[in-house]
Amino acid sequence: MIFNNSIRVVDAALMIDDLPVYAIARELETPVYVYSLKRIQENYRRLKAAFAPVGARLHYSAKANSNAAILRTLIDKGAGIDAVSGGEIARTLRAGAAAQDIVFAGVGKTVAEIGYAIERGIGWFNVENELELQYINEAASSIGTEKVQVALRFNPEVRADTHPQISTGHGGAKFGLTAAAIGKALAGAERYPNLSICGVHLHIGSQLGDSAATLQALAKTRQLIKPYPNIHTINLGGGLPVAYRQDQSIPSLEELVSEIAPHVHGYQVLLEPGRAIVADAGILVATVLYVKEQAGKIFYIIDASMTELIRPALYGAQHEIVPLTQPDDGWVVAQVVGPVCESTDVLASDREIARLQVGDRVAIMTAGAYGMAMASNYNSRLRPAEAVVAVDGDSWSVSRRRETIGDLLYANVSESRKV
Ligand code: LLP
Repeated sequence: MIFNNSIRVVDAALMIDDLPVYAIARELETPVYVYSLKRIQENYRRLKAAFAPVGARLHYSAKANSNAAILRTLIDKGAGIDAVSGGEIARTLRAGAAAQDIVFAGVGKTVAEIGYAIERGIGWFNVENELELQYINEAASSIGTEKVQVALRFNPEVRADTHPQISTGHGGAKFGLTAAAIGKALAGAERYPNLSICGVHLHIGSQLGDSAATLQALAKTRQLIKPYPNIHTINLGGGLPVAYRQDQSIPSLEELVSEIAPHVHGYQVLLEPGRAIVADAGILVATVLYVKEQAGKIFYIIDASMTELIRPALYGAQHEIVPLTQPDDGWVVAQVVGPVCESTDVLASDREIARLQVGDRVAIMTAGAYGMAMASNYNSRLRPAEAVVAVDGDSWSVSRRRETIGDLLYANVSESRKV
């Protein structure tokens, strides 16, 4: 079974590059995330090559996975970063990003975050509110930054082909600015002397199934910015899909780029891919804690849950589940569930899977994007360790240790205050 160039089953053992995953799991225990840095580099290069015809500059969307080793690998290869909070900016600067190569996006940036980003010299702001322009201008003027580059995020009111909970470009969504609001901001641009409003930003959703809504949005965008020669940049956001199942096919990148090309001709193009760079490079490894049969169903209770990977509970996402060493005991239809006290803590329901025993280890596949990044301490569970297999393919390291009970308690204080 071959998942991609880095992750495959060889002689009944799941391998990540040249290493059997069971060896890493034995060392670190479970649950644990394991990522292939080689695959991440390959995905980055593939996207860069596919978007070369439109000269796109890639800003990796750190929200998908902000593991320090992953950020460093991408930054070393020349990726810019799309950050959505002061925390993400701090993490990416720490990983070696140049502030100029960071795009600061987000629907609700605080004044403090705006000040921090300007002090650090962030390259671009993607703006989603008119008042934000004033805040950025004020911060730039008081810090003494002559011009801050701004892209206005356009809500094109199109319906993306994706799960409704990761769709962002329809009317009624909280994201972006309407055409009317953008027209107003551009017409009044002289009110913001410290801003250079020179870009427009689009992100209509994630895991986009086809290009129709993107092309509609781009046509509307061109119409909108035509009267404003100062706008020289179109940021296309993220949204490139990945296959979560072996039998799922995704649209060709080359075709997408050739469809987009006429719409962005003459503009500088930025891109903010997250999922397409990291999703298929990561797995979440877990151990079967209990097996029980009730109400005619088989339950595999594993030590990973919605606190490590919330995608199935939140979006009904289906991730493949593969034993680290293929057991030879036939197939069953089972429920793979976590220990959390929530009925939605189900990693796979009615899934055909190799028959497992207590102690067997499994990998939840394609978990590199929005896995650890969305992990929580719900039920006071400890967030898992993360390991990375180096680009050479045969050495690995721990890039984040498993949390401890001490980590859970470290922010507790007992401070009395007076009003
Ligand atoms: N740019 C903007 C403005 C975004 O909001 C996002 C994702 C991206 C770029 C990166 O999108 P990507 O290339 O990864 O599709 N937690 C959900 C996905 C949420 C996406 C949020 N925004 C999931 O697990 O499917």
